[in-house]
Amino acid sequence: MNGAAAAIAAARLLPVVVIDDPRAAAPLAAALKRGGLRCAEITLRTAAAEEAIRVMAADPDIVVGAGTVLNAQQAARVIDAGARYIVTPGLSLQVVQHCQARSVPVFPGVATASELMTALDAGIETVKFFPAEPLGGLAMLNSLAAPFRMMRFIPTGGITAAKLPGYLCHPAVLAVGGSWMVPTSLINAGNFDEIARLTADAVAIADSTQENPCTLFSPGRPLNAGSTRSFSARRSPTGSVAAAASRPGSSTAC
Ligand code: 3PG
Repeated sequence: MNGAAAAIAAARLLPVVVIDDPRAAAPLAAALKRGGLRCAEITLRTAAAEEAIRVMAADPDIVVGAGTVLNAQQAARVIDAGARYIVTPGLSLQVVQHCQARSVPVFPGVATASELMTALDAGIETVKFFPAEPLGGLAMLNSLAAPFRMMRFIPTGGITAAKLPGYLCHPAVLAVGGSWMVPTSLINAGNFDEIARLTADAVAIADSTQENPCTLFSPGRPLNAGSTRSFSARRSPTGSVAAAASRPGSSTAC
């Protein structure tokens, strides 16, 4: 696993950003760091995305990647702009091959076993499971992961803080992606304190699942209805932002 992928695996969280103004990139990066995260996936859904990637790439404390990359030309542009990893909503072999040729990690989106087989053939070790919740959430992920034990997943799409512990407990999950901690409405409102708070909450949940790993997903065990409710995240009594800021290793995790 190279630097960017290892950083995402260490953080176990991947904030998915839709940004309208590149001037928000620096304060957003600062808010993520205050919350305990050092990575961001900037989606190519806005005209501001490429410049935002360039701004964050200049920050040595942020591991920035590009999301919603739909073709090899876009992959080339954002890698040139400084993206250290590429995330795609579906599986494009052209994008995968371009990233591999440039030694940039790529996490293609998959939703089916057939796409997983194609990804495997292409040498992919980690995929984005997208859109996670509409596809059936943890139950679907568990079923897909069972025959592909070598594959790691970044479930993304419709995931909230409440659903985070269940996903993070799954041994096939490398990290969980989502926009709930970086909503565009808060970015546009300049409410970076709230983004830092939401980020810190997510970090606290991720830390809790690491300290108290669940045993719901032993090999071959089917996912029982309601099983994810048996895990409860531990929250800091002193406030989540302070807890995240003081957690060991938080300055080095992505
Ligand atoms: C993505 O681009 O990966 C998803 O749209 C993010 O999904 P979310 O906004 O539901 O978290």
